[in-house]
Amino acid sequence: MSEYTITYIKNEQPKEKPQSDQLSFGKYFTDHMFIQDYNPEKGWHNPRIVPYQPLVLDPAAIVFHYGQTVFEGLKAYRTKRDKIQLFRPDKNMERLNRSNDRMCIPEIDEEFAIDAIKHLVHIDQEWVPNAPGTSLYIRPFVISTEPYLGVSPSATYQFIVILSPVGAYYEEGINPVKIAVENQFVRAVKGGTGEAKTAGNYASSLKAQEQVADEGYAQVLWLDGVEKKYIEEVGSMNVFFKINGEIVTPALNGSILEGVTRNSVIELLKHWDITVNERKITMDELYDHYQKGELEEAFGSGTAAVISPVGELAWEGKKMHINNGETGEIAKKLYDTLTGIQYGEEKDPFNWIV
Ligand code: COI
Repeated sequence: MSEYTITYIKNEQPKEKPQSDQLSFGKYFTDHMFIQDYNPEKGWHNPRIVPYQPLVLDPAAIVFHYGQTVFEGLKAYRTKRDKIQLFRPDKNMERLNRSNDRMCIPEIDEEFAIDAIKHLVHIDQEWVPNAPGTSLYIRPFVISTEPYLGVSPSATYQFIVILSPVGAYYEEGINPVKIAVENQFVRAVKGGTGEAKTAGNYASSLKAQEQVADEGYAQVLWLDGVEKKYIEEVGSMNVFFKINGEIVTPALNGSILEGVTRNSVIELLKHWDITVNERKITMDELYDHYQKGELEEAFGSGTAAVISPVGELAWEGKKMHINNGETGEIAKKLYDTLTGIQYGEEKDPFNWIV
């Protein structure tokens, strides 16, 4: 048997599936999971699909102490004709390997990982929900499993994929969210791990989010970690602004996560001949445009969040109400087109669908 043959143990006790129209984000998990092991002698080996189950790990496993771990997020969509399709999984696997490299985790075989994901989704296909706006969220991740308390890269790892039927990430759905600009804490600095999809970036964001949640803010907008002037990202989303008819988004700078949806939004806007400026933008500049009535729209993009309009931005005690708190024209068109492609209802001129 080749080291790349996926073995399969069927779950003989499948769970009851949640109602498709009552899904929120990331609460339910399907009947199976994919696992592959790594050690220095065999490399990545023993790929298997097994019943969804708890992991047994040594309490000294490096992942628990030093957070040597990475993850990805992508989705499977059910079309009206009952086909199941993935959106740009190659991009996610490329990014997984960039994150692996940053975190000293051995590279995975991207093509094989996509095959493994297809296989797992196929087995759990009945879990792909069909209510509007729902999908099957795919969470591939790698954990460091060596029991060792010295600070050094683990010798052993597991690559795991789990699946979760999901609805909208934000309670607001496609309705505008309120975001608070974070002035005290920082998410990442150039040279740090901001570009990698690694757990620590998300753990360190919790405090800021917790502080604004009581005031009804869904998330915080991070500024650069050095001068706290330049706009970076929201954490679960990249951000875009429509200013005087043109789109501006922070340029990738080493501390911003390179979103697959961000890239797709830029491609779509260019396809529509709308100018997109990837550049540095400060909060001062944004506020100035707002005051002059030039800030026409703000929205975030992400796999989980899709396109999420921003109706209010709070910054240094000032509240910016954008587009009267309503979903803007570009955000709506992007949402409709992206989801149209993802659910097989629109042409896919870029061959994004697998
Ligand atoms: C995604 O959009 O897939 C993300 O990874 C955001 C998240 C941390 C829920």
